[in-house]
Amino acid sequence: MGMWLLGLGLLAACDSSQPTQAIVGVPVPTEFQVGETTFNANCAACHGNQAAGTDHGPPLVHKVYEPNHHGDQAFQRAAANGVQAHHWQFGNMPKIETVTPGDVDQIVKYVRWLQRQAGIQ
Ligand code: HEC
Repeated sequence: MGMWLLGLGLLAACDSSQPTQAIVGVPVPTEFQVGETTFNANCAACHGNQAAGTDHGPPLVHKVYEPNHHGDQAFQRAAANGVQAHHWQFGNMPKIETVTPGDVDQIVKYVRWLQRQAGIQ
């Protein structure tokens, strides 16, 4: 399952003409669209279209990041402090100074929605 998502992420990353619903085949509900826009502007360069991963960062739609293992605070900490590489081989994540804690709340809602679409909860 992990490799499958990663494979799709790499495909999506190679083709920038992919619509945003390339992986989750339903439109993003209105309540998650602010999170989607903020994610795309600040996180997708590494975490990929629909958080499916790229060759700069891991998929967040992955069992490793299910709410029980990486709670919402892990997202706040990642954005505020950056992340030392420990789960993957992509290197460290820098802190993201362009987002506020409120922005990260919206991003988390969007990523949790993506995770639920993939059966991760
Ligand atoms: C420059 C690339 C890059 C950007 C931009 C980036 N990340 Fe990351 N992120 C990474 C990498 C690489 C890791 C994996 C580190 C590891 O565990 O090996 C990671 C890990 C994470 C984790 C897991 C943290 C943990 O506790 O293990 C979360 C959550 C996360 N990123 C959220 C975000 C969010 C939200 C944004 C946008 C605000 C973002 N990232 C932007 C590269 C990036």
